[in-house]
Amino acid sequence: KTVEPCSVVIFGASGDLTARKLIPALYHLFKEKQMPGEFRIIGFARREKTDESWRTELREALDQFSRTKPVDDAVWAEFAKHVHYCKGEFGDLEAYKKLEQQLASFGNEALRNNLLFYLATSPSQFGEVVEMLHNAGLLHKNEEKGWQRIVVEKPFGHDLASAVQLNGELTKYAHEKQVFRIDHYLGKETVQNILMFRFSNSIFEPLWNRNLVDHVQITVSESLGVGGRGGYYEEAGALRDMVQNHLLQVMSLVGMEPPVSLDAEPIRDEKVKFLKSIRPLTEASVGKQVVRGQYFAGVVNGEMKQGYRQEPKVKSDSNVETYVALKLFVDNWRWSGVPFYLRTGKYLPLSASEVRIQFRPTPHVLFAAQCGTKLDPNALTLRLQPNEGISLRFNGKVPGTSTSVRPVRMSFSYNSEFGAYTPEAYERLLLEAMAGDATLFIRRDEVETAWGIVDSIRKGWEGKPLTNREFYSAGTWGPVAADDLLSQAGHVWRDPQ
Ligand code: BG6
Repeated sequence: KTVEPCSVVIFGASGDLTARKLIPALYHLFKEKQMPGEFRIIGFARREKTDESWRTELREALDQFSRTKPVDDAVWAEFAKHVHYCKGEFGDLEAYKKLEQQLASFGNEALRNNLLFYLATSPSQFGEVVEMLHNAGLLHKNEEKGWQRIVVEKPFGHDLASAVQLNGELTKYAHEKQVFRIDHYLGKETVQNILMFRFSNSIFEPLWNRNLVDHVQITVSESLGVGGRGGYYEEAGALRDMVQNHLLQVMSLVGMEPPVSLDAEPIRDEKVKFLKSIRPLTEASVGKQVVRGQYFAGVVNGEMKQGYRQEPKVKSDSNVETYVALKLFVDNWRWSGVPFYLRTGKYLPLSASEVRIQFRPTPHVLFAAQCGTKLDPNALTLRLQPNEGISLRFNGKVPGTSTSVRPVRMSFSYNSEFGAYTPEAYERLLLEAMAGDATLFIRRDEVETAWGIVDSIRKGWEGKPLTNREFYSAGTWGPVAADDLLSQAGHVWRDPQ
């Protein structure tokens, strides 16, 4: 990708995201010579800091969070020369004027006009920051001078109405094409590979529909609890935190139709079309198709963990879900009648994300005497993380004189094929945003459609406390109600290994 010289301005520069993700990502892009020849990074935040003191702070964070260790001193020294700080309140126009002067002082038109504004702030501040940028002459809706882009983090609202409002605030002073909504799952190599896998091979796509697929399972499990994020999590819950964005994104890539090209708009058009084909959930169908869960105390990886209701900043009678499982139907020609099962949860036995396409059973079993009436169905598993890879499960003869059959696997592993190349999602996403390619970012109609789905589920839950079948012990694969969800149709969850 060619990236023109530009400045990256990070709002909320004192926050966790900047230290953990953004600066390490920019440092690695620089180290790998992917940053433009000329660039600046300016941190904008309330606290009093100098360029020097901010650089020192960032260096300490980098030592801790960098994916490559130790940090290369010479590379850092060179990188740090591009890093500056601007103290300011988000609502103070004077601070933005100071920012403008700082940008102009770099003495290069491109560094003054090509601007990537990264809003690592609370969404309640998006509107104000964008308005101030506009008033200070730093953001032009039609990009008359250079280009300006706004990158926003999740959570993008908390329901459809708030997302619509945020979209309104952002697009008041910027064109939709200038808005880059992050979903860091789209920055993951393996998530991007879903489309490459589907549309660069001729043998899988013909199987990828209702004729041969029995059902699809998408699991994003985490072995961590909510930790110190109880305050945020009480407002969010697993449905908003994970399903609205990451799970529905992965599902769209698995289920969408081929785009007319790999450009941003055609891909996003297909994703929106797919999301719109998901059968709407009613209050009655939520009860049948969606299961919530919440962890109580239990042992995870050999360590006793406390229950969600005992976590800091969590209400002792909280009904917030730390687990969700859904059964969704997609009403279109390709997927009619094929259930998509999605699940995600905290404090599950391990952290793993995978997509499993389970194929229909054979029409007739020839080996009934040896294997019973059922053979294990064929399945294709895309392992998104960790042990990234793809495997195909089929049945084979066990060597010997008996006629027994058992499942065997053909596997591809990224590490053994390509070596350990693990750029962080944020590296790719920042690079794409600087290059102006919006393919890996969420479009306005996409985020709104996803919130519509989430809202209908929340409506179905309203006023209904969690039932006994919805609690699960930390360190297990979720509540029994989630097993019931599949067993109704004769299906079972396949847990990541
Ligand atoms: C974030 C959620 O968006 O994704 C977190 O807010 C979650 O709760 C995280 O832990 C999972 O991301 P990853 O990349 O670790 O799978």
